[in-house]
Amino acid sequence: MKNKIDELLNEIEAFTASSQEHLEEFRIKILSKKGKLTQLFDDFKLVAPELRKEVGQQLNELKNKAQDKINQLKETFENEVKPDENQIDLTLPAEGLGIGSRHPLSLVRGQIVDIFSRIGFTVSDGPEIEDDWHNFTALNTPHDHPARDMQDTFYISENPDMVLRTQTSSVQVHIMEGSTPPIRTISPGRVYRNEAVSARAHCQFHQVEGLYIDKKVSFADLKQTLLYFSKEMFGEETKIRLRPSYFPFTEISAEMDISCPFCKGKGCNICKGAGWVEILGCGMVDPAVLDNCKIDSVKYTGFAFGMGIERITMLKYQIDDLRLFFENDVRFLKQFHSVI
Ligand code: DAH
Repeated sequence: MKNKIDELLNEIEAFTASSQEHLEEFRIKILSKKGKLTQLFDDFKLVAPELRKEVGQQLNELKNKAQDKINQLKETFENEVKPDENQIDLTLPAEGLGIGSRHPLSLVRGQIVDIFSRIGFTVSDGPEIEDDWHNFTALNTPHDHPARDMQDTFYISENPDMVLRTQTSSVQVHIMEGSTPPIRTISPGRVYRNEAVSARAHCQFHQVEGLYIDKKVSFADLKQTLLYFSKEMFGEETKIRLRPSYFPFTEISAEMDISCPFCKGKGCNICKGAGWVEILGCGMVDPAVLDNCKIDSVKYTGFAFGMGIERITMLKYQIDDLRLFFENDVRFLKQFHSVI
């Protein structure tokens, strides 16, 4: 018995704890119900009566020593200075942040602005909530005009004279009302139409309007400007073709096709075998529109054009569903990382 007490005393004195868990293991090993010390107390019953006093004392001392040792080690751990969890370690390398990319529509709008600014076009802006005059009437489209049916309009319920603009042509009117020629500007912006959303139509999309008013502006100027744009946008080999069309605010009016950028005019499923794809509407500004905007239609002529940014972007990057532009799915957007 005495030997066992000495052995355990040595073990307790020699013990050092490497962690709080280690200390707890030690406490269990010594003091728990099945611990070594408890075992010795059990064995105490077997000690001869004449030795009991002495052994009892030794056992109690051993118990106190064990308890003191454990308490003391526990305290050391508790007093240990823990690193402040809120303290920032400025020497750590920074966490990498995913780099975003520009939206394909912003990219293409930027490219369009860039191309036209090189030949002297400024950029102008107008309101998206527009009055009837700027969106329709000044553009030669009075209330009873059948051409209003060309565009399904969102009206503002509180004021039937206000609409969500259906076309950026409305900005033409603001510009002409507010300045004197020469005017050479493009107006990119969002437009709205009451259309069911599908792969080919959306209730909101983007257009760029172009307007050039000066003395002696001709259809040849329009054609050359659009040829320059098409080549810059889709490549030097691009051809254009103008087809007669109708818009209320231009006379004469045309729609413009470019040679299909995918098959170079040979015919593919993008151009449905035609070799050509339509990209914009254009024409000479109707003198009635110039007069509506207080510009002397005898002195000045001008051309205008309007194109959909989504359409140009779809053709440029082979995107086949309009809805992708508005879903903000990063798997789609990140494909434009490398495009400047
Ligand atoms: N505003 C027309 C549309 O939304 C596009 C357009 C056609 C604009 C001919 C023009 C133009 O300036 O001359 O369909």
